[in-house]
Order: sequence, then structure tokens, then C-alpha cells
Amino acid sequence: MNEQDILENRNWLEVWHHYYDPELKLEPNDPNAICISSVDASGMPNGRYVLLKDVSEKGFLFYTNLKSQKGKELFKAGKGALTWWSRAQNKSVRVQGTVEQVRDDIADTYWASRKEDAKISAILSKQSDEVASREQLEEEFAKLKAEYAGKDIPRPKHWSGVIICPQKIEFWEATSAYTSRLHNRFVFELNNNQWITKRLYP
Ligand SMILES: Cc1cc2nc3c(=O)[nH]c(=O)nc-3n(C[C@H](O)[C@H](O)[C@H](O)COP(=O)(O)O)c2cc1C
Repeated sequence: MNEQDILENRNWLEVWHHYYDPELKLEPNDPNAICISSVDASGMPNGRYVLLKDVSEKGFLFYTNLKSQKGKELFKAGKGALTWWSRAQNKSVRVQGTVEQVRDDIADTYWASRKEDAKISAILSKQSDEVASREQLEEEFAKLKAEYAGKDIPRPKHWSGVIICPQKIEFWEATSAYTSRLHNRFVFELNNNQWITKRLYP
């Protein structure tokens, strides 16, 4: 897909795959790491990495504890942003959008695919609250592991998927003109339910 193809494309998902798919072969460690940005009630911005689990026409899906700081901030504002960077290809994607919780059946299917230890740690974690010590964490883990030995581990209602539904997506790519920094920036923006594209100054 060349520059003109991107600018004439009205389907951001195709451009996402054009950027992202090669990364799966090029980056052995968490190629799906994305930075999720939110703001608190005072307007203080906050960013943290999570693992992207799915991208569809609806948006970008990751899983988390809805009572965590990010969970509270994203749903309070109803808006959030994410940033993905490819070290291997020197590309970046940046998304702003609205926030939705994934359907329970989809969260259940993903939960079922998680390893038992990951389920236990999701159950015990009061994510983003203070914990007294490492020992306490490990004790709570061992206790729950014994409790659930040989049993089904249910998904907590507050552990689910969050979708960032894009309203604006920027695709950034370094060009061979690296020293001049004349890189490419292509923006997809929702305008009256239609995606429009434009090129930005770098
Ligand atoms: C590479 C990487 C992947 C992570 N993936 C997740 C994830 O998928 N979900 C999640 O809740 N936290 C994930 N974390 C931990 C978060 O970065 C963060 O520490 C935690 O979710 C609490 O964030 P909060 O207090 O802003 O809510 C990940 C951290 C790293 C470094």
C-alpha cells in the first residue's frame, strides 16, 4: 500500500493491518503493546501500557480491571486514546475515540483462554489500590490458588474488555528522508459518519 493508496483509502482497518501485521513477525516481544491514555477528573493525563487483543471495525480491544484507575478514568470521560509504536518498522498509530465495554460473552471467551495463574491474579488484584507488601500479594495468591484447585475460576464482573472506538486515527511513518525528518502523517477522521483522510505536516 503506497502513500496515495493510504490517502485514498476510506477503510482505516486496512491501513491498520498494513502497519501492524508485519510487526508480528518482526517483533518477538509484545508487538501488541499499546499505551492507553486517559485523564482524571482534574484533567491530569495518565498513560500506561496494555496488550491489544483484537481490532475490528468497531475498534481496539484490550482487557483490564474496570475498577482500576484507567477503568474509572476511561468510563468517566467516555473517551480515551491509544498509541502504538513499531520499533522494527519505525511506524506509529495514534487513536482517539469513545469507550465501550465489550459484550460479556466475548469477555467470557477470552477469560476462558487465560492460564489459571493469570485468572487468579486478576481475581485477587484490586488493581491500582495500595498493597502493604509483596508478601501479602503472594499470600493472597497462594490462598486463592488453593481455594480454586480443580475448580472453574469465574470471571469477575469488573474484569472485562474495553474498546476504544476510533473517531480519529493517525498513521505515522518514517521515510527514507530520516535526517530531514520529513516523515509521513496520514489522518483518518470521522466527519458526519464518513471517514475523511488528510496528510499533515510532520
Ligand atoms: C507490556 C505491558 C502490558 C500490559 N498489559 C496489561 C493489560 O493488558 N491489561 C492491564 O490491565 N494491565 C496491563 N499492564 C499493566 C498496566 O500497564 C498498568 O500497570 C495497570 O493496568 C494499572 O494501570 P492503571 O492504574 O492506570 O489502571 C501491562 C503492562 C505492560 C508493561
